[in-house]
Amino acid sequence: MPRIAYVNGAYVPHSEAAVHIEDRGYQFADGVYEVCEVRHGFIVDLSRHLDRLDRSLSELRIDWPMSRAALILVIREVLRRNRVRNGLFYLQVTRGVARRDHVFPAKGMPPSLVVTAKRTDAAAIAKKNAEGIAAITVPENRWDRVDIKSVGLLPNVLARQRAKEFGAQEAIFVDTDGMVKEGAATNVWIVDGEGTLLTRPAEHGILRGITRTTLMDVAKPLGLKIEEKAFSVEEMYAAREVFVTAATSICFPVVSIDGKTIGNGHPGSIAQNIREAFFDIAEKTLI
Ligand code: PDD
Repeated sequence: MPRIAYVNGAYVPHSEAAVHIEDRGYQFADGVYEVCEVRHGFIVDLSRHLDRLDRSLSELRIDWPMSRAALILVIREVLRRNRVRNGLFYLQVTRGVARRDHVFPAKGMPPSLVVTAKRTDAAAIAKKNAEGIAAITVPENRWDRVDIKSVGLLPNVLARQRAKEFGAQEAIFVDTDGMVKEGAATNVWIVDGEGTLLTRPAEHGILRGITRTTLMDVAKPLGLKIEEKAFSVEEMYAAREVFVTAATSICFPVVSIDGKTIGNGHPGSIAQNIREAFFDIAEKTLI
């Protein structure tokens, strides 16, 4: 079955899907995106993802490409046409196509919209959950507005590549004070000696992950205590558990960082309990 993508008003074969060479996303990374999980035929946390899209667009003064209701119809159609019941969709909105010029194009230029969907490799995810992943730390070198889910991801790309070259799966950005920020494509959590979950406040300097927000709803019925508090690399090395969250993975246990073993070197029970409870608590929208 051929994969289908939505590009600026048309459903087209994925292999032929293309945007114009003067799309501002292509030339300036002048756009935003969302990645959303699909599980058992439901879109997970769709409202929160679209709320964040709205915030990213308004921070960059990019118009919505269509109404929210119409966008949901497109997302559903892309998922249906690709027969994705367990996987994800990706959507990207850019400021549109215009002759190359740093300033915004004239008002009325339509933004570009691309929506794709794919199935995820359940076996690969299960393996990461069972074995845990390795991470490295890297110095923060991104711009100040990483709270916007912009497609400008070059530092994240370089950091992930560096992690791969060190045999790890995630890179964790660390600020100049030695405090942990977030992963290249995840938020970072630790469980301290008292069993409290710590994650950096999202007011500034990290992306407010949707999985991170929903995890707070999941933690309550599990009786887990959460503190939004920055922690150092040393505290992270000494943590009982470390895990990273994102829509693509929910919550992957991290069992080694910079070659140091975390906890007993095996995935912890808190990450597992959260992962198991997550889908029940999260918002579910039928495809
Ligand atoms: N990334 N921090 C960064 C820098 C991210 O890129 C992501 C997600 C997150 C977690 O956000 P959420 O829980 O909303 O997925 C945190 C997506 C999955 C990506 O770029 O593929």
